[in-house]
Amino acid sequence: MKILLFGREGQVGWELQRSLAPLGELVVLGRDASSNPDGLCGDLTQLEALAHTVRQVRPDVVVNAAAHTAVDKAESESALAYTINALAPGVLADEAQKLGAWLVHYSTDYVFDGSGTQPWQEDDATGPLSVYGHTKLEGERAVARCARHLIFRTSWVYAARGGNFAKTMMRLAGERDTLQVIDDQIGAPTGADLLADVTALAIHRVLMREPAESGESLAGTYHLCASGSTSWYGYAKYVLALVAAAQPAIKMVVNEVKPVPTTAFPTPAKRPHNSRLDTRKLQKNFGLHLPAWQTGVLRMLNEIDYGRIR
Ligand SMILES: NC(=O)c1ccc[n+]([C@@H]2O[C@H](COP(=O)([O-])OP(=O)(O)OC[C@H]3O[C@@H](n4cnc5c(N)ncnc54)[C@H](OP(=O)(O)O)[C@@H]3O)[C@@H](O)[C@H]2O)c1
Repeated sequence: MKILLFGREGQVGWELQRSLAPLGELVVLGRDASSNPDGLCGDLTQLEALAHTVRQVRPDVVVNAAAHTAVDKAESESALAYTINALAPGVLADEAQKLGAWLVHYSTDYVFDGSGTQPWQEDDATGPLSVYGHTKLEGERAVARCARHLIFRTSWVYAARGGNFAKTMMRLAGERDTLQVIDDQIGAPTGADLLADVTALAIHRVLMREPAESGESLAGTYHLCASGSTSWYGYAKYVLALVAAAQPAIKMVVNEVKPVPTTAFPTPAKRPHNSRLDTRKLQKNFGLHLPAWQTGVLRMLNEIDYGRIR
């Protein structure tokens, strides 16, 4: 089996390089052509070259972990965000469809308007509040042009590699007396490693099904995030309490962590208040269990090189 992966340097793309490796031959592409094999194109703004790349590689599965994820920047770069998040996934869908390949793609809770307090289900009405959310929704619609597609909508993604919310909180806790953290956006912090592991299991599942029991019946959109939910404030408190208990060598000057509303930090893009995702469809169809969000965050904190935070 051959898998073509886009988004080499991203949080999820990085973890996928680990989790997809045992499934077959993996061709991994990043935006920078000079580090790609055979001059293949991994730049999602180059639509013709992208199509040509899929035709050249002829994969059984395309996994797209690349995206324009700078939510605030997208407000002023809507054409670029639309190309990367909507047009490019459409190109991948059309090429995958011609090959009879699977296309795996990631989307976001930002396709919803964030109202209410109930976890969103896959077929709930969408209503993006931002350019990013709009372009990701268009991307979902484009990906569905490929019959064999899996779209995983997720939320609040973090990884041990690179910067993340937990590291920012730790750094600020070493610099400031008071921290203000948003308490009226609720979601589930989800590890890129969990997303990558579930992706590998799902691909294995759809491809291993007998032809008579077509894997295509599993195609569709799934909500995929860690279990439970919290606010950014709850997330910060959890991280700082763990670090204070387990890493006494880390200097903390913070005396107070204050919950504040979203309005305390005005941003160009509007964010949903309710980012809870109902994951029962994924757990049932793929026979999987999604661990509590604290499990992954605890693991990530154990992997951090604390010497490099400040
Ligand atoms: N991060 C979250 O909280 C979150 C939440 C919900 C859903 N998602 C979705 O999950 C998926 C993976 O996100 P992530 O957290 O791994 O994001 P990420 O770490 O920002 O990675 C995205 C990758 O896409 C690359 N990229 C940007 N423009 C590109 C282009 N023109 N051509 C090729 N690559 C390009 C970026 O490269 P550069 O580094 O060079 O810019 C980056 O490596 C995305 O579909 C995202 O929409 C993310």
